[in-house]
Amino acid sequence: MPLANDFCEGNEEREGYAPLKLMWCPRCTLGQLSVVVNPKLLYKEYSYVTSNSQTMRNHFDTLIRDLKSESECESVLEIGSNDGRLLNHFQELGTKTVLGIEPASNLADIALRNGINTINEFFDQEIAGIVADNPKPPDVIVARHVFCHIDDWQEAIYGLQKLCANGAIAAIEVPYFIDTINTVEFDQIYHEHLSYMTIEAMKHALQGTGMVISNVKHYPIHGGAIVMFIKRGRVHCDWSESLTLEDLRAFAHKSHACIADLIRLVHELVADGKIVVGYGASAKATQWINSCGFTRKHLKWVCDSTHQKQWAFMPGTDIPVVDEGALTRDLPDYAICFAWNFADEIIAKEKIFREKGGRWIVPHGEIKIVEPHQTAVKETA
Ligand code: TYD
Repeated sequence: MPLANDFCEGNEEREGYAPLKLMWCPRCTLGQLSVVVNPKLLYKEYSYVTSNSQTMRNHFDTLIRDLKSESECESVLEIGSNDGRLLNHFQELGTKTVLGIEPASNLADIALRNGINTINEFFDQEIAGIVADNPKPPDVIVARHVFCHIDDWQEAIYGLQKLCANGAIAAIEVPYFIDTINTVEFDQIYHEHLSYMTIEAMKHALQGTGMVISNVKHYPIHGGAIVMFIKRGRVHCDWSESLTLEDLRAFAHKSHACIADLIRLVHELVADGKIVVGYGASAKATQWINSCGFTRKHLKWVCDSTHQKQWAFMPGTDIPVVDEGALTRDLPDYAICFAWNFADEIIAKEKIFREKGGRWIVPHGEIKIVEPHQTAVKETA
């Protein structure tokens, strides 16, 4: 597969392809990729910007509320702070001191320009030591969808150990592997996601560190995510989960069936003279499009609100990425919502498309079609 966020313009060199194979440990239930693409290649100029959608803002509100029931949140450190959006939200809700650690220089620059104190580095023990030695060390450490990008767990866990030594709490948000499997979200598997997390896997990683998972919250964001609250202590909180090799085999089988369904549907629509496009140039879009072997013949374009992605091509294809306005300019017959995690918000926002008879295809597990009279995905059930 191509690298999921390798958005290049016509004359730019692409990074190429790498094997994408998910391995699984039946003992600790962690999933990991067989190949680690050099992080410097993936994150130097990173095009993923934290969503500014209402869905995400609501999630931030809930997350900060839940964190405040665990800690004062006077000084917050975010690992993988992207363009500083979550830290800005903390500030708006009363946190005085915020600090971000962000390896992508383009995103760290945006955060700094917006007044969010940011260190442009990868998180490691050394950086953790420097931050922990600050006169006002953080009482809360947040890492949203970062641990799934980490290969060297020891380095990250030792870094957390330094930061939590004085009683701080860490909130680690990851896509929940059990949800990924149960909802057949094969499109969440790509080179940036090196680790596929369960509570059991985190318990194993924390062994011998003096830290435990004190609480777990389950959220619907991104198709199902958990936040594990980690701090110094002796006893892990209760959480029951189960994942077996049979579950993974069923997942592989269902993923192939979903891919075959979308290929069949799009080929039929195109043969029938219908115009089909994509909405949301997410990493998930790269996975679906390349798994289905779609080219510009099948999808005229994929639109996306992120400026960094526009006017480039979808990784591995000749399909251009355009601005969101293209949906009402072109009024295609069908739009595949590759940002299915924001589907209801997008369907509500793109009212004109619906009113003019446009249909949504939502590829989240099974392929759902949203008819023009329907205003949300759930109504189709
Ligand atoms: P996301 O699901 O966060 O990312 P990924 O699969 O890459 O981890 O990305 C959603 C993409 O959809 C992102 O590129 C922004 C885009 N988008 C829009 O273009 N319009 C919208 O209204 C929303 C909510 C997202």
